[in-house]
Amino acid sequence: MENKSANAFPSARILGIESSCDETGAAVIENGRGLISNVVASQIDLHAKYGGVFPEVASRQHIRTIYAIVDQALQQAHMSLSDIDAIAVTRGPGLAGSLVVGMNTAKGLALASNLPLIGVNHLEGHIYSSWVYPHDVPKAPPAPGFPLMALLVSGGHTELNLITDHLTYKHLGATLDDAAGEAFDKVARLLGLAYPGGPSIQIAAAEGNPQAYQFPRARLEGTWDFSFSGLKTAVLRVVHQFEEKNQPLPVADLAASFQAAVVDVLVTKTVRAAQVFKAKEILVAGGVSANKALRETFLAQKEFTVHIPPLYLCTDNAAMIAAAGYFHFAKGHRDPLDLDVLPTWPLS
Ligand code: KG4
Ligand code: ZN
Repeated sequence: MENKSANAFPSARILGIESSCDETGAAVIENGRGLISNVVASQIDLHAKYGGVFPEVASRQHIRTIYAIVDQALQQAHMSLSDIDAIAVTRGPGLAGSLVVGMNTAKGLALASNLPLIGVNHLEGHIYSSWVYPHDVPKAPPAPGFPLMALLVSGGHTELNLITDHLTYKHLGATLDDAAGEAFDKVARLLGLAYPGGPSIQIAAAEGNPQAYQFPRARLEGTWDFSFSGLKTAVLRVVHQFEEKNQPLPVADLAASFQAAVVDVLVTKTVRAAQVFKAKEILVAGGVSANKALRETFLAQKEFTVHIPPLYLCTDNAAMIAAAGYFHFAKGHRDPLDLDVLPTWPLS
């Protein structure tokens, strides 16, 4: 348990529900950290032919699967709703039509079982994925320590926040254009690689030379903001040069050089921010935190302990929603049953 009084952190099991984009998830978490069950149904195959998430298709697929996913999460936990203390659901940000499916499911379950409903910010969920560990391990790993410098890198967001305590964020900066994940996805498309772009670039980059091309690094000195559109344009320029000459693209070298530029900017800026704001530790969260080069580069520096979730918790899942939901539950946060989704809800 956490190092505060028992009152501040009550014992509770939270059922989490996530449906903000193209993953349908349900999970049960005990006391904000212990993962009892976690079920995720990915829609990647459905969207791959469109080269990105098709919102209508996503919401219809959530409707088809969500009750079965919730049932599975409860079954795997050997629990029914009577063993649960609250239902946490992603309220936003995300695709409106997808969010509504999870929200309506959570409301229905809350009403039927008389359980409290807690709307959770999806970005906050990503952050809390670093608190989660399998509940049956002999010893809980240490929880991240405040103040924490948090880099959030997902398909829709790239931002730096100083986290001074549970649920307390100071926003420092964000991308001025593309999110890091979006840049991976767009550059993958330029290189003819499959959706989702992040994992495809990572695989292609493994065979390439990260120094083959010196792509620009937007440092944006004097701010904690990021920019990836110039980098994307620089890759596009090289692609055009090869196309004009009718030569095959050096996909592996381009992928490796692009990835190196993204990783360099993200790691350098986050470590610098941790130094300037005197953070105790660093936390990296969101889909792009699954990137091998990013993980290795963060872990190679020895100045700060870096919390990066295990791969299965990097991309969208409901365990992180249940974990963040628990800390809201502990604070007394309860939402009404007419809660609306917030497709553009910022973290702070
Ligand atoms: O957090 P997430 O699952 O969904 C959002 O909330 O956006 O992040 C999805 C993003 C996509 O842009 C995907 O390409 C990227 O995370 N991603 C990766 C990797 N795995 C997923 N980017 C780089 N390397 C990866 N291994
Ligand atoms: Zn996400």
